[in-house]
Amino acid sequence: MRKVVLILGATSAIARAAAGEFAEQGYDVYLAGRDAEELARIAADLAIRYRIKAGWGIFAAESLSDHGRFFAQAISNMGEMDGVVLAMGYLGDPIAARNFDTGGAEVILINFTAAASILGHCANYLEARKQGFIIGIGSVAGDRGRQSNYTYGAAKGALALYLQGLRNRLYDSGVRVITVKPGFVDTAMTYGMPGLFLVATPQYVGRRIVTALHKSADVIYVPNFWRYIMWIIRLIPEPVFKRLKL
Ligand SMILES: NC(=O)c1ccc[n+]([C@@H]2O[C@H](COP(=O)([O-])OP(=O)(O)OC[C@H]3O[C@@H](n4cnc5c(N)ncnc54)[C@H](OP(=O)(O)O)[C@@H]3O)[C@@H](O)[C@H]2O)c1
Repeated sequence: MRKVVLILGATSAIARAAAGEFAEQGYDVYLAGRDAEELARIAADLAIRYRIKAGWGIFAAESLSDHGRFFAQAISNMGEMDGVVLAMGYLGDPIAARNFDTGGAEVILINFTAAASILGHCANYLEARKQGFIIGIGSVAGDRGRQSNYTYGAAKGALALYLQGLRNRLYDSGVRVITVKPGFVDTAMTYGMPGLFLVATPQYVGRRIVTALHKSADVIYVPNFWRYIMWIIRLIPEPVFKRLKL
């Protein structure tokens, strides 16, 4: 029996790379996002290239009340669901996102509230099946609040905590929950952004997402060295940290 993975935010460069890696391993995929034309194009490419079944469906993060129907439709289209990759995310303008009425609400909604909403449906389904996996893409930005993007960081930090709780809840049912924390990645999200360093390719991140399933770590930093960078950043005492321009 082939396995099926649902990819949320499937038009993202990281998600495309992960979808290709899953397809190469023989998974069928269900691509979810807002851009029907692009989803159909990616699905057709994967189906031809890897001889898999590739479905797609419209998923708008902010339509919270539609998430249950969307997930049921995905299962009905594919027959079952063995795993989920949550790749959707929204950086926005970090300065405008300081205030809720100029973008902050959207950043919290897409990166946390909507993520928790759809993952709640996925978790109930996988828990009942007593197998499967949930892979959530957080960010190193969620490890410590910094003046440069703390609304996005807070949402990603909340997502990491939510995934940690899901991991604890789903442990007895045999469902794996993996948190992926990338550093800077060369995608549309970071295009033209000043001050980027140690930038990874989306292909590398996609590969690490899939290989994480064959390893035991619950939380992975991508690339690995971010684990040590963030460890040092978390160790800086708050009286010192609050003075830094980060
Ligand atoms: N790039 C980085 O440096 C970096 C670093 C750490 C973590 N991450 C995380 O990695 C994940 C993938 O990001 P990326 O860099 O590949 O960025 P991206 O290209 O901007 O992808 C973001 C994805 O989220 C989807 N999305 C945004 N708003 C949505 C909404 N309201 N409803 C449904 N889908 C929505 C986008 O769909 P549309 O195509 O329809 O807009 C797109 O598929 C995100 O969770 C991001 O936070 C990225």
